[in-house]
Amino acid sequence: MLRVKDLVKRVDNVLLLRNINFEVEKGEVICIYGPNGSGKSTLLRIIAGLERADSGNVFFRGREITNISPWDVVESGLAYAFQIPRPFRSMTFHENLAVACMRYLEVEEAFDLAEKTAVEFGVGHLLKRSSDRLSQGEMKILEILRSYLTGAELLLLDEPFAGLDVENAGMLRERLHILKGKGVSMIITSHRKRILHEIAGRFIELKEGVLYAEGR
Ligand SMILES: Nc1ncnc2c1ncn2[C@@H]1O[C@H](COP(=O)(O)OP(=O)(O)O)[C@@H](O)[C@H]1O
Ligand SMILES: [Mg+2]
Repeated sequence: MLRVKDLVKRVDNVLLLRNINFEVEKGEVICIYGPNGSGKSTLLRIIAGLERADSGNVFFRGREITNISPWDVVESGLAYAFQIPRPFRSMTFHENLAVACMRYLEVEEAFDLAEKTAVEFGVGHLLKRSSDRLSQGEMKILEILRSYLTGAELLLLDEPFAGLDVENAGMLRERLHILKGKGVSMIITSHRKRILHEIAGRFIELKEGVLYAEGR
């Protein structure tokens, strides 16, 4: 579904990513882990079209998407959830979700799908809540559901557990399981591998821009 081939990123002659190669199959959840500064965010941002690669290619569903605009990446069926969630603060949970599907649905249908999805993911009680009154975990869930509702088949989640306490992390983990059950593919980064051991089917280690090891 996704193929990253010989990807290189250089800033001021420093190699942030050195010949990265990997593939993600449909429905697969992979974890990219490694210490801070290893290049995880840079890798996801390049796939999402938010940064340019210096060389190499990204293919998604048979089409080359290397260095295309972030909007065209979303159009191709791939969505990136920001490490720091950025919903529209003045809008409700429901409105924020609805906006995500307005790219392909009429307003009324968008609100219906947003509500159905929130209920399905156990956050129906948050629908009327203003986005600036959500807990950190609820905010993360909103951000991830917004990405999902763009119609994405592959989600790029950058450190979704960062800064969450045990309760919020558990809440988020449950929602990731639901997404996985729906066959949504995900690339999830983390500086800790453990937190994803039940969700990810495959682990890739990134260390100083080198894709280090791969296994279960
Ligand atoms: N635009 C940039 N210019 C210079 N250095 C950068 C830039 N983006 C990231 N870096 C550096 O690249 C390395 C990898 O960063 P990052 O991808 O954020 O790693 P991670 O997400 O694994 O913590 C870090 O040393 C960071 O300081
Ligand atoms: Mg990062």
